[in-house]
Amino acid sequence: MPEPILQVQQLKTHFYLMEGVVPAVEEVSFDLHRGETLGLVGESGSGKSVTALSILRLVPDPPGKIVGGRILFEGKDLLALPEKEMRKIRGNGSR
Ligand SMILES: Nc1ncnc2c1ncn2[C@@H]1O[C@H](COP(=O)(O)OP(=O)(O)OP(=O)(O)O)[C@@H](O)[C@H]1O
Ligand SMILES: [Mg+2]
Repeated sequence: MPEPILQVQQLKTHFYLMEGVVPAVEEVSFDLHRGETLGLVGESGSGKSVTALSILRLVPDPPGKIVGGRILFEGKDLLALPEKEMRKIRGNGSR
């Protein structure tokens, strides 16, 4: 089996609101291999959209913050990547 193209490891994304902290994504992990399709299923508000936004680093900040975990895309740690590099990954239509 080749390396996964995407690895999400114990991802945690929280929203810091006046009313308190919303733990929108709590330690979500999955691998995705090239050519695979992954569906996220869950009730409304369970964190599907925030998971996807977190992978693209498009969670509105504030009030949102990725507070834990790792996201590896083609082996690159997306949470450590400069914004400029992130834009190249987001905008790439050739994959
Ligand atoms: N910008 C935001 N500010 C504050 N809380 C937010 C924000 N975006 C999402 N949340 C909260 O994060 C949690 C996860 O929301 P998310 O939108 O990921 O759910 P979902 O699984 O995509 O739901 P749906 O099936 O309705 O699309 C919810 O409690 C939601 O209220
Ligand atoms: Mg959604």
